[in-house]
Amino acid sequence: MSAPSILLISGSVRVGSVNSAVLGAAAELVPAPFAPVHYRGLAALPHFNPDLDRHPLPQAVVELREAIAKASAVLVSTPEYAGALPGALKNLLEWTIGGIEITGKPTGWINPSTGPTGAAGTYASLRTVLTYTDAGIVEAACVDVPVTRAQIGTDGRISDAGIRARVGHVVDALVASIG
Ligand SMILES: Cc1cc2nc3c(=O)[nH]c(=O)nc-3n(C[C@H](O)[C@H](O)[C@H](O)COP(=O)(O)O)c2cc1C
Repeated sequence: MSAPSILLISGSVRVGSVNSAVLGAAAELVPAPFAPVHYRGLAALPHFNPDLDRHPLPQAVVELREAIAKASAVLVSTPEYAGALPGALKNLLEWTIGGIEITGKPTGWINPSTGPTGAAGTYASLRTVLTYTDAGIVEAACVDVPVTRAQIGTDGRISDAGIRARVGHVVDALVASIG
């Protein structure tokens, strides 16, 4: 049997993404027996269309729903685009509405924004959509941890001890919420 997993979903597909680096740090801090699983299918998801939300589902949607179903918890990190959620992440979340996999699933987020508004719009949208999907939002695991691009090493890792400690607290809060 495979290890119970924590599914890590980045709202950015950009090479060198700050959000993906934050989730990389979270992955390093996931405690045993849990295993981190990076969701890599964001760019391959078709645009949500209720006409496609029936058997046979698009393979990318099958894989998304399986990844969520298998996970013990979900951790998101996303940029803000134009004051709200990136379309790609909103699209992913729309695909979770027809499935019940995310219902009650412990879910948190790390907001690494260093922008003037702290990406407040995107995380307000994220809360609205996750609430709509009935995800189990874990308040202690929904945290702002500002990270600049300069704090990401050439190896893509975040080594700053303070950032790692704060990310570790989020992971611990999420794990503690798993029943
Ligand atoms: C088209 C576009 C729109 C953006 N809109 C916002 C915004 O509304 N608010 C904000 O704080 N940052 C905005 N940004 C900045 C990104 O959120 C920021 O570069 C972030 O680090 C990108 O995340 P990533 O490094 O994980 O790709 C925007 C960037 C782009 C390219």
